[in-house]
Amino acid sequence: MSSHLSALNEFHQQPILACQNVAKTFQVTRKSPFIALQKIDLKVAKGDFVTILGRSGGGKSTLLKLLGGFIPPTSGQILFHGVPLQGITPKIGMVFQENTLYPWLTVEQNIGFGFKVRGKQKRHYGLRVQEVMEHVGLTQSGNLYPHQLSGGMKQRVSIARSLAIQPDVLLLDEPFSALDIQLRRRLQKFLLNIWQETEATMVLVTHDVEEAILLGQKLIVVGGQPGHIIAEVDISASAFRDRYDRQFLELQQHLEGVIGEEPDMMEKSRDLAAVQSK
Ligand SMILES: Nc1ncnc2c1ncn2[C@@H]1O[C@H](COP(=O)(O)OP(=O)(O)OP(=O)(O)O)[C@@H](O)[C@H]1O
Ligand SMILES: [Mg+2]
Repeated sequence: MSSHLSALNEFHQQPILACQNVAKTFQVTRKSPFIALQKIDLKVAKGDFVTILGRSGGGKSTLLKLLGGFIPPTSGQILFHGVPLQGITPKIGMVFQENTLYPWLTVEQNIGFGFKVRGKQKRHYGLRVQEVMEHVGLTQSGNLYPHQLSGGMKQRVSIARSLAIQPDVLLLDEPFSALDIQLRRRLQKFLLNIWQETEATMVLVTHDVEEAILLGQKLIVVGGQPGHIIAEVDISASAFRDRYDRQFLELQQHLEGVIGEEPDMMEKSRDLAAVQSK
């Protein structure tokens, strides 16, 4: 292959987002820094749906905040389209773990906020807001305020608000964890549909093993102390879209064990590779 062609090939394979040997330390007291994450190497390619799984306090939100440019790494670097990420950008959308809707704005105004704050006129973005509201099934609720919405509706508004400005990547931090199982399943289906229809790139954090397998194409397990990536599983096969499939159930049971049995995780991650290669 000519060097020109191989350069072109490399360009197409360049991940949208990448972590290179990233570590994050928090200075809690003057004496003892707390290492939340270390040695994180991760690549997110265009169109990927990556799920990040780990137990509470394992560093999942920290990793997502690093990927979104909300906090800088202590060492290593985060590359966005091959260039070091210098803080937040509208090209990376974020749906936070907690509700971050503006209570004084209606559903429609919340969704259009990303445009308004950039000085855009409503006639330029009104149509896009309507389109996204339709996508998330909220056309009838455009004039309601957040306190008039159910939990699931609020999460759909948050997702719509992030999608409206068409980010290159959407980061989602446990978006459905506060919802009951039926609603969670409906919204999981809804998110998968959006991912398929818009060919978006998504990174979703969860501590729900079933959710991580069902939604992702690539699953990453974060664990240990300090937190690091203990396993990566390719779950792009169709078996992993069916929660009753034998392969799905086997992997689910295994990962539940892995997460429940920290600090034995390194051992378990080796078993995980065996499950994967079956
Ligand atoms: N700003 C901060 N200052 C000090 N410590 C922090 C800070 N942010 C996070 N941490 C610590 O880093 C660790 C990882 O926190 P993080 O919020 O990333 O966990 P998580 O995996 O998202 O947990 P959960 O599932 O409960 O949301 C925790 O021990 C937490 O106390
Ligand atoms: Mg978290």
